[in-house]
Amino acid sequence: MKILIIGGQGTIGKKVNDHFAKKHEVITGGRNSGNVIVDSVNSKSIEAMFESVAKVDAIVCIAGEAKWAAFESMTEEDFYIGLKSKLMGQVNLVRIGQAYVNAGGSFTLTTGILADHPVALTTSAAMVNGGIHSFVKAVSLELKDGIRINVVSSGLVEDAVEKYESYFPGHNPIPMRKVINGYVKSVEGKGTGEVIRMYDNC
Ligand SMILES: NC(=O)c1ccc[n+]([C@@H]2O[C@H](COP(=O)([O-])OP(=O)(O)OC[C@H]3O[C@@H](n4cnc5c(N)ncnc54)[C@H](OP(=O)(O)O)[C@@H]3O)[C@@H](O)[C@H]2O)c1
Repeated sequence: MKILIIGGQGTIGKKVNDHFAKKHEVITGGRNSGNVIVDSVNSKSIEAMFESVAKVDAIVCIAGEAKWAAFESMTEEDFYIGLKSKLMGQVNLVRIGQAYVNAGGSFTLTTGILADHPVALTTSAAMVNGGIHSFVKAVSLELKDGIRINVVSSGLVEDAVEKYESYFPGHNPIPMRKVINGYVKSVEGKGTGEVIRMYDNC
């Protein structure tokens, strides 16, 4: 398979990239890293990326940001960071990318545990994650030519524990092998419209 991974050099992305590269052709994309330069916040940049990469069998997005801050301090603009990056960045990858996925191919998006189990400071991140879950279920009903779409939602991953542990009291870090398997299930499996949760029901 030819697999495009946006965010393929990030904490999660590089592990997923390493795994798929063992048996597939992988192209990674990022704003400053990877084989192709793309900023998912910008539709023109997404279009230019697909023009250069051409058709693929799987598009995986493991990129997207949202502002973490106390709700009382969040401005309207602060919410737009998550809406433009993590939410619409991924929606636009699907909206534009549907013309660049081979029949029977797939999209895999990324959210996280905050959709179901938010912690303090995550009103924006939790909100966009939930929106992506609903988007994936809805758009799976309309994608043509057997194209599938799923979203991987993991808890705090092992490789990011040092950076984020203090935000997630009592959370069990998710082993990278388990996180990778969420993406494998989506890309190599047959399911569509699924929220692939990689955490215990905490
Ligand atoms: N870390 C966790 O424990 C965890 C758990 C569950 C879910 N998640 C979610 O998983 C995703 C990745 O997390 P991570 O920890 O791997 O993050 P990370 O280490 O910061 O990596 C993010 C990657 O995405 C790229 N990227 C960021 N914004 C982009 C944009 N607008 N356009 C194109 N590429 C962009 C970055 O490369 P450039 O800088 O070159 O653009 C980088 O390679 C995030 O959405 C995060 O919320 C993370």
